[in-house]
Amino acid sequence: MIPPGDVLIGQREIASRIVDLARDLAGELRRDLAEEGASLDTPGRVVMIPVLSGSIIFFADLVRRLPVALATELVSVSSYRGATTESLGASLEGALPGNLAGKHVVIVDDILDSGRTLGLLRGRIGELGPASLRICVLLRKERPRDVPVEADLVGFDIPDVFVVGYGLDYDGHYRNLPDVRLLEGAGG
Ligand code: IMP
Ligand code: MG
Repeated sequence: MIPPGDVLIGQREIASRIVDLARDLAGELRRDLAEEGASLDTPGRVVMIPVLSGSIIFFADLVRRLPVALATELVSVSSYRGATTESLGASLEGALPGNLAGKHVVIVDDILDSGRTLGLLRGRIGELGPASLRICVLLRKERPRDVPVEADLVGFDIPDVFVVGYGLDYDGHYRNLPDVRLLEGAGG
């Protein structure tokens, strides 16, 4: 077991950044909805999709700050990590939600790293014909992507280090730590 190390982003900093992210996302959705004569209160227009399992804590905090009538659908992507810190690919587990055509869709993930996970999801969900498609991540690693994909809303840019906590795990551990911490001695 590799123990978690120093705090990279503290819980207060995360909480205050999520207020900004929620305001920015609500503003963008408000503009999109206004173009179709709808508002943030119009039911059935916005679908938020957390990518399991890393985004669960971030998602829970983010959606509670969003004054938006939204539906949630879950997706699960396995990224073949296990007890390694390296991304070895991404594959969808199970089916995609079937009702995304014409909706304003927001994919929410913990971190943009190699780009494999979000590249896969942007492609597959884009094929379903959403009215708009956004990607919102808490963290974005400063590194070249293996699969080119941009996040539309980003909490924090971080260096190319392996982090745990606030939903992020190392081999299933540490998701419940309230801060984002470095994982000492983790390679790749
Ligand atoms: P990507 O497909 O390489 O972009 O990685 C996506 C997934 O890998 C994320 O959704 C995370 O679950 C996991 N991941 C990437 N970097 C880290 C990290 O530093 N700590 C924990 N999990 C990570
Ligand atoms: Mg993960």
